[in-house]
Amino acid sequence: MTALITFDEQQGVFHLHNRKISYLLALEEGGILSHLYFGSAIDSYHGQLRYPRVDRGFSGNLPGHTDRTYSLDTLPQEYSASGDSDYRLPAAIIEHADGSRAARWIFKDYQIVDGKPELAGLPQAFVEDKTEAQTLIINLVDEVSHLELALNYTIYRDQAIITRSSKLTNLGSQAVTIKKLASLQIDFVAKDFESICLPGAHANERHLTRAKVTAGVKSFESRRGSSSHHMNPFLALVEPKTDEFSGEAYGFALVYSGNHKFELEQDQIDQTRLLIGINDYNFSWDLQPQASFTTPEVLMTYSEAGLNQMSQAFHQIIQERVVRSKFKHQARPILVNNWEATYFDFDEEKLKPIVADAKKLGIEMFVLDDGWFGHRDDDTSSLGDWSVYKKKFPQGIKHFSDYVHEQGLKFGIWVEPEMISLDSDLYRQHPDYLMQVPGRAPSPSRSQFVLDMGRPEVQANVYQQLSQVLDQGIDYIKWDMNRNISDVYSVGLPASRQGEVYHRYILGVYALLEKLTTNYPDVLFEGCSGGGGRFDAGWAYYMPQSWASDNTDAIARLTIQYGTSLAYPISTMTAHVSAVPNHQTGRQTPLETRGDVAMSGVFGYELDLTKLSQAEQAAVKKQVASYKQIRSLIQYGKFYRLKGPYEGNQTAWMFVSPDQREAMLFTFQEQAFAQGALTKTHLAGLKPDLLYREEATGQVYSGAELMKLGLYDPVVHQDYTSKSYHFKVLD
Ligand code: GLA
Repeated sequence: MTALITFDEQQGVFHLHNRKISYLLALEEGGILSHLYFGSAIDSYHGQLRYPRVDRGFSGNLPGHTDRTYSLDTLPQEYSASGDSDYRLPAAIIEHADGSRAARWIFKDYQIVDGKPELAGLPQAFVEDKTEAQTLIINLVDEVSHLELALNYTIYRDQAIITRSSKLTNLGSQAVTIKKLASLQIDFVAKDFESICLPGAHANERHLTRAKVTAGVKSFESRRGSSSHHMNPFLALVEPKTDEFSGEAYGFALVYSGNHKFELEQDQIDQTRLLIGINDYNFSWDLQPQASFTTPEVLMTYSEAGLNQMSQAFHQIIQERVVRSKFKHQARPILVNNWEATYFDFDEEKLKPIVADAKKLGIEMFVLDDGWFGHRDDDTSSLGDWSVYKKKFPQGIKHFSDYVHEQGLKFGIWVEPEMISLDSDLYRQHPDYLMQVPGRAPSPSRSQFVLDMGRPEVQANVYQQLSQVLDQGIDYIKWDMNRNISDVYSVGLPASRQGEVYHRYILGVYALLEKLTTNYPDVLFEGCSGGGGRFDAGWAYYMPQSWASDNTDAIARLTIQYGTSLAYPISTMTAHVSAVPNHQTGRQTPLETRGDVAMSGVFGYELDLTKLSQAEQAAVKKQVASYKQIRSLIQYGKFYRLKGPYEGNQTAWMFVSPDQREAMLFTFQEQAFAQGALTKTHLAGLKPDLLYREEATGQVYSGAELMKLGLYDPVVHQDYTSKSYHFKVLD
């Protein structure tokens, strides 16, 4: 087994490498760990490229050092501290018993281990056997306080992926308070960067947003208690010339669903520092002697061939080594969900015809959305009471689930377990479960409040209620979170530890999910938070798929799904055909376009099937049948973005099977123009010398033709059109 990590003792240089990437870090004078390189693979390193020493005014030196050219303020480092002469943003701020906040991380020792040690209680990338990755653990100490900081770096053998996290252990005799502890720091020198982030809003998530990195500090963060619709925990740093197929791209995805912060600082000499981790906003953590704190981890990748290659690296690691469910490689069922069909206005008798039609059309699962529990007729009551609403299901949920199963469909159900309504038995019995600041009225959002999920008794109550639901013939759970956290306070913690509440909340949710997914391995879990408000790599560890957005409009979804695909695999992204005019935008789009957009993800319907005309039902039946033909190609093929909704009027993307013998191309055009210019779409990822037959037309092309000559896009006379092409190698 070839080593993936080497240490050159003479030069004091660590080298993590595989066939795709290299990462180099070095020991400097005084035991400081510097960053040398992250990029495409190099075979070996001979020490040429050490950071040049330059005397910079107002950049001080290490205590006891007289060399004015050696300064922490300019040296690219692996991890910084606060309160010293590095004036850039710090990776860690630790408050000591005497109130001081200084630390200096000095190299102590290191270990190289096969595989990847587990991060207890946190979602993470894993290994299936120890030969597929190696981990470098570098232990640094602050000699005054006896804090030990372990920096963990795992490199995968066959993927352009390194994961990083850090762990602080208090080996001193007094408690300290962690005010900030980044998962990762990386300092870049001589790079002209642009950042790509994914901001958004409810029903308008993950818009690819690109901006030049300039002098000063910029942060991309969530303070909402969840990863949020508003800023996804992902960032890319790219060259100005980088596009989908060329140029450098560094990608970073935090495996965490709570408050996060990505900070970028361009310093006095145009060097760029990136810090990623738990948001330090209202955060603090009490660290007693002998205790440790482990940060969530970051997945990072480097591509020298543009954004598609970056995304494909994320897709592979998340799909293969973050998602754990038994469904990770299975064909995901095509479902119909009753939310946009009925909202709260339903009962068993009204739903049965939808189920019957679903069966007729080849749909494989019925999902019963919000409103089946407590006495919930609107969104003002019953969250927290996970027992059936007898008015709607007089004979119970099991009776209805039996009906659905008899029709040959699977049965799924919606829950929102982290929430509580004032009008609920749970609130009447346990008012203290509702998270609120003593003496202050908590803020409602969608008329609901948040449970204090960090408390074990709250987790136990929810677990017990949910397991009763799951024991009633449930094949699938849609786990929602329809507000962000506010009024952050826990009666379970003393005053001095209220800064822990946000992180303990998400750790509590993770603990609950760990138990549920372990004890109910046959249930398919789908994540949701008002659509895509918690679409992150951490969530994918527990739930193999998530509802990408409450916006089901096909045209809006082009932008949302395009942005989502920057970091997250198609198999994690659910997309449904809904009715027109669309409920979120009022837009009218053809059924074919709605189908092609939704078929570009994990497919389903979100409408009242009984209200479709016969012609529409026939079209739906055809869509369902064709999705079944291409399902594994879509869900597990290699995904290429070809044209983006950001660049103009057209979007195009395609899916290629692992053996490159089959491909599916979708093209979309928003507006039709009279006498518009002709356009082409160039395919990607095919084998140039293979012959591919387009299934609908029978036309044969070589891979080279499809990629180099491209295909003319149809000339259209209608807005919001789409076209799909299915290619198979001619045998
Ligand atoms: C959220 C979800 C929707 C639906 C509603 C129900 O908004 O994203 O799909 O489940 O809640 O209240």
